[in-house]
Amino acid sequence: MTNSNFPLDYFLLNHWFLALLLIVTIVYQIAAKKIQRLPQIPFKFLILYFVIQLIHFMLPNDLDPPVNLWFGVAAAIALSCAIIRIVFYLTVEMWYRVRLRAKLPKITRDLFLIISYAVMIFVVLRTKGGVNLVGLITTSAVLTAVIGLAAQNVLGNLFAGISIQLSQPFKIGDWIQYGEHTGKVINVGWETTRLKTFDDEMIIIPNLDISKSVLKNHSLPTPRHAMKIEVGADYSIAPGKVCDVLHGVCREEPRILETPAPVARVKNYSDFAITYVVRFFYEDFGNDPDLRASVMDKIWYAFRRNDIKIPYPIRDVRHSHIERKFECAENARLRKEALSKLGSVPILKPLSSESKDILANHLSIEAYGRNEIIVKQGEPGDSLYIIHRGACDVEVSSGNAPASKVATLLPPAFFGEMSLLTGEPRSATVKANCDTIVFAINKALFRDVLVAHPEISETLAEIVMIRHSETAEIASQHTDEYRNRASKLIGKIRTFFGV
Ligand code: CMP
Repeated sequence: MTNSNFPLDYFLLNHWFLALLLIVTIVYQIAAKKIQRLPQIPFKFLILYFVIQLIHFMLPNDLDPPVNLWFGVAAAIALSCAIIRIVFYLTVEMWYRVRLRAKLPKITRDLFLIISYAVMIFVVLRTKGGVNLVGLITTSAVLTAVIGLAAQNVLGNLFAGISIQLSQPFKIGDWIQYGEHTGKVINVGWETTRLKTFDDEMIIIPNLDISKSVLKNHSLPTPRHAMKIEVGADYSIAPGKVCDVLHGVCREEPRILETPAPVARVKNYSDFAITYVVRFFYEDFGNDPDLRASVMDKIWYAFRRNDIKIPYPIRDVRHSHIERKFECAENARLRKEALSKLGSVPILKPLSSESKDILANHLSIEAYGRNEIIVKQGEPGDSLYIIHRGACDVEVSSGNAPASKVATLLPPAFFGEMSLLTGEPRSATVKANCDTIVFAINKALFRDVLVAHPEISETLAEIVMIRHSETAEIASQHTDEYRNRASKLIGKIRTFFGV
């Protein structure tokens, strides 16, 4: 039936059975590529073996003995390699995947397989083909020298690659800095290591170069990472206030870790500004550019709200009087806008024009960027806010449940009245939904308004009750604790308004 005497042949009844096995194996390989659940068993050498055997079966029986011999040798090599590959996959690779939940490093796998294949090929060639490759290579000094010279760089990179695999200065997925390049390791190959940068570019570094240079791994010893941001602030503002504002910005950004706590301190008394540095920790270096931009954004808004200027050299000195004039004009314009906005707030409609004037001249104008928190649930507060431009989201959270959005407020809506009227902590978190300007009215200012116009208390009480029941309804899905707090709060509002 066959010209080869390799053992597996005895199990194969005829070439139809062989063809069937070949088709089944190929179909499995294609299916495993498409269906994630099927393990991708490396059957390529087995397919090669089937193909060689099939061709051999198809050929006439009266072939020359050397042709038969080489078919046998080729089939034996393919089958031996198939066995090595499949056994290695089912033992070492599977063990690595199941036990260590990791992929065996490619370079380690390739090295083991190539050495095993080479040994197997030497043995089969010698035993079945009568060819001694070892003798051929060792007796040819010129060939050895040529191969040695040509392979110098390749071998250097290869051994550097092996050393990287063994000492593990980084692994796939780590963020590393090599010279001026920073990127995420996506592959450690035979010769090179590949990084993907923040701009989605590929950096290819020879392993030898990596093993000789200083390398910074941003993901070790832990993915936690510190970021420092420097900012200048005006000399006229006390460092304590600037540091407080910078700490506040860190508290607002959810990606900044609470421990280790963020630190803001004076770094330098520079020519035009006091330079501050704020240092905080976050997870995953991959967030770096995004987080930096977000914090710098928030610093700008927070500085503006707290009247802290970021001075810039020369122009600030020469043109400061012009700037002050411009600022006064801008302020006057905003106050005028505030006056007309107050008229459009339904609860303030009964106010006399004199009361509105007083309010417009004494309220403070605050700007917030997208996602900045204006009032935070659970914190004390005694200001009422009227939205002048932009929009605000009201969110409530209870226990460990994620915050739920209760409402989106648009100009000229107001918020913050509950804490102002009851002295209770803020019942919800209100965040700017986009660039937003709000008018903040403090307790003393609002008390004067209420004394002059007690009739607005009733409307205000109704709004407070409606809002509170809405908020409590959402929060009540979470805990009883919120329900208790809600009923206490309603009691306080009732007492306040004598309802
Ligand atoms: P205060 O508790 O001081 O701070 C959070 C503010 O969110 C709260 O006052 C209200 O002004 C506002 N707020 C709470 N619940 C609602 C709601 N259901 N609809 C609109 N605004 C609300």
